[in-house]
Amino acid sequence: MHPHNLSFLQQGDSIMPSDTITLTDERTGKTYTLPIEDGTVRSMDLRKIRTDDADFGLMAYDPAFVNTASCRSSITYLDGERGILEYRGYPIETLAEHCSFLEVAYLLVFGDLPNETELKAWANEITCRTMLHENIGKFMEGFRYDAHPMSMLVSSIAALSTLYPDAKEVRDPVNRLHQTKRLIAKVPSIAAMCYRHAVGFPYVYPDNDLSYTENLMNMMWKMVEPKYAANPVLARALDVLFILHADHEQNCSTNTMRSVGSSMADPYLAVSAAAAALSGSLHGGANEQVLRMLEEIGSKDRVPAYIERVKNGEVKLMGFGHRVYKNYDPRAKIIKWTAEQVFRVTGRNPKLDIALELERIALEDEYFIERKLYPNVDFYSGIIYQAMGFKPEFFTVLFAIPRTVGWLAQWDEMHRDPEQKIARPRQIYTGERQRPFVPMQERHAVLTAKQ
Ligand code: SDX
Repeated sequence: MHPHNLSFLQQGDSIMPSDTITLTDERTGKTYTLPIEDGTVRSMDLRKIRTDDADFGLMAYDPAFVNTASCRSSITYLDGERGILEYRGYPIETLAEHCSFLEVAYLLVFGDLPNETELKAWANEITCRTMLHENIGKFMEGFRYDAHPMSMLVSSIAALSTLYPDAKEVRDPVNRLHQTKRLIAKVPSIAAMCYRHAVGFPYVYPDNDLSYTENLMNMMWKMVEPKYAANPVLARALDVLFILHADHEQNCSTNTMRSVGSSMADPYLAVSAAAAALSGSLHGGANEQVLRMLEEIGSKDRVPAYIERVKNGEVKLMGFGHRVYKNYDPRAKIIKWTAEQVFRVTGRNPKLDIALELERIALEDEYFIERKLYPNVDFYSGIIYQAMGFKPEFFTVLFAIPRTVGWLAQWDEMHRDPEQKIARPRQIYTGERQRPFVPMQERHAVLTAKQ
């Protein structure tokens, strides 16, 4: 129980004045004093505000949950106005500079940075689970050669559920950790198979001598050489990009993970649902759309015309704007720095010049300034991925791989939270009521009536 988890207060109850809000219901003249907990009022406290005993009581109406806290969490802290992002209290900048991705994955899952022994054991726990059941390869053969890799990833992660029936024991924390390790280990293997299927090359098995990102590169790009050798600069850049994408509090896909998980669905099906949410162009699918946008613009001199189309509402500036950040996304800053490291190896991606011009003009333009639109994590990431050799349709898969850690950490936290239960929002009903039945012979064609 939380210290301020007081029951509903009636007029005259004594409480610190700073911890309450008093409302007057003009319909009845009654006043109500609601406790304020952590900057929120409990929606259920509104239910006692009724016009009479038959009244259901007030609800809060919040389409898209723009102003609704759905849970308590200690995993990721965001300050949108100041552009601050912290995982378990550590600033993202220091984690990106000093840690490996698996080290940050450990931090997100267990809450603290591992010591050397713990990190070595953790890395081994993940590495020894990277192999996939051969069924997954056969399953993947069912896809067309041009199937979008996100659709293949979502389907194949769900297919893992058929191989691990023990995963349904979601109330057991030991079992949850076991499945967490399996998913962190196997999602890159599935991702690589999606790529190899698309290009028609044989699947490459994991190489346990390699790091997490080196092994992904190995499973994607190894050809006939006896052992794959990843470029260390590119492998480190991918590690940093994975750290930046690992978690982001209650974003759309994490909300999906928590919601699906709240019904006691197994984690493979919940992660599959979360990845499906991530694939949308307004969420993780934006990084692919940024590249399509830069290709459509084509050159720096055509940027002003595109900006005008954005301001006319014809198109969105993909990779710009954010529900929470009303300042520069701290991840975008780090990605820009990482791009320079990658280009030293791959050569400069000319799309960067178009992106920089878009950013320069947008950040000076009143339309973007008054709406507090800045580059987000997706604006520059695709430019790096393309320079590294990934195709645009694969960019969101590269988002899903690290975000699997965040989804699982949030899922485990949900199961440990005594306040959480199956997610089931209410609605405002706008339809008709108690309609008289219409026999078939008296019905008019619905379509013509509706057109
Ligand atoms: C991610 O939530 C997370 O944490 C997500 C994420 C994570 O790590 O999980 O950070 C990852 O999804 C990043 C966002 C990637 N998406 C894009 O880059 C797509 C382009 N961005 C927009 O679609 C938009 O900014 C959203 C979806 C990101 C946020 O939308 P909101 O919060 O619902 O804001 P809104 O649509 O209400 O916009 C407010 C105003 C509107 O103008 P008006 O109607 O008031 O005139 O800003 C405008 C919008 O039209 N606007 C944009 C814009 N984004 C918002 N105008 C042009 N281009 C844009 N990109």
